[in-house]
Amino acid sequence: MWNPLDQNNIHNPYPMYDLLRKEAPIYKAQTGEWIFTRYEDVKHVLTSKNYGGGNRKDWIERGVEYLAQKDIDISHIVEAMNSFILQLDPPSHTKIRRFVTDNWDKNGVEDIIQNNVNTLINNITTPEFDLVTEFTAKLPSMTTAKIMGLPIADHAYLHDLATEMIKALDLYVSLKELVVLNDASKKFVTYFRDKLTDNSLSEGLLKHLVSVNKHAEEPLTDNELISVFIFLFVASEETSVSFLGMSFYNIITHDLQSELIVRENISLELEELLRFNSPVQLLGRIALEDTIIDNHRIKKGDTLTLCIGAANRDPAVFESPNEIQLDRNPKHLTFGKGIHYCLGDWLAKYVSEIAIRECLLKFNNLTIIEGPTDWYNNLAIRGFRSLKVRVG
Ligand code: HEM
Repeated sequence: MWNPLDQNNIHNPYPMYDLLRKEAPIYKAQTGEWIFTRYEDVKHVLTSKNYGGGNRKDWIERGVEYLAQKDIDISHIVEAMNSFILQLDPPSHTKIRRFVTDNWDKNGVEDIIQNNVNTLINNITTPEFDLVTEFTAKLPSMTTAKIMGLPIADHAYLHDLATEMIKALDLYVSLKELVVLNDASKKFVTYFRDKLTDNSLSEGLLKHLVSVNKHAEEPLTDNELISVFIFLFVASEETSVSFLGMSFYNIITHDLQSELIVRENISLELEELLRFNSPVQLLGRIALEDTIIDNHRIKKGDTLTLCIGAANRDPAVFESPNEIQLDRNPKHLTFGKGIHYCLGDWLAKYVSEIAIRECLLKFNNLTIIEGPTDWYNNLAIRGFRSLKVRVG
């Protein structure tokens, strides 16, 4: 019943989720982990102190040890992931999360997005174009680079590294993939280590956090700071690219362009699009205690896989869950819940609102000529790398 690597399930995981939710909503997979598909259960695990983050970190550390015996050094990945806040539990999690949220000034972010959207749209001069490669895949990395104050010319390089690094959050990572991941980590660490002391950088989040940290009572180490920057880049990249691509696909195929274009503000409608196709489909947790959920005995150390995409389509919570109802205002779990709730939800929403509105205004009546194609090869973050469209 659980086959997240099957290409059919990557393209359309919802029938698999429906079956699991109906037949075995808390399911022990052959790989040993527990699979959760009901909304209330997923929400419960995300908000309970009995479950912690870090299941991927453990697995990766085991991979590092194994490869070290074969004289393959992949310690860079551990260095990069050392302080990924997603992997940490309190109190270290609280310290790093506070450091970012308390010191991230949101002023000016909307202007940055608007400028980037205008630049990208103005570069599209043909009536047929690839909405992903020419627009949605570029916008998030351009925006994060500019927010951090990094040279804009670096955004494509950082985008490619983030695309490699996101595999660190996959459900299953092969040893071969770990080696690729290690290479991306090494480049990311080198990049940000240089930037920590680069006086020529523009004003931005990076310079600001480095300066605040210098005067902090309990400053983060350089390695911790580097992990923060890498994770902000990684967390904001594929998720936003996926959401933008999927949103355009849904808007075009569900005939929503003319309905959205007349609305002054589409923030409510975005919530429904976020529910309908969550970019992050799977989250992982580890049981910190022996617990029982719905008569299932979960042992300390067990791994839990939470299917957000399934929870967001649970008919016990959402009426006609497989329909897009723009005015639904759903309480989806797309940005998670509890202490690890997405720290950049506001940014993802700004980016998508401005991008969608401007595209619909500029490109009248888009139709799909090919795609979506070239899907990401895993279900944890679900999306595609090409969607060819025609204007008019
Ligand atoms: C549509 C886009 C996005 C989606 C769907 C998304 C989704 C998520 C989810 C589900 C989590 C919780 C993970 C867990 O509990 O294990 C999360 C955490 C996080 N997200 Fe996002 N995210 C998006 C965009 C962003 C952006 C733009 C940023 C930029 C800074 C960002 C930064 C983070 C960070 C730092 C965390 C970890 C928070 C913590 O552990 O305390 N995300 N995101």
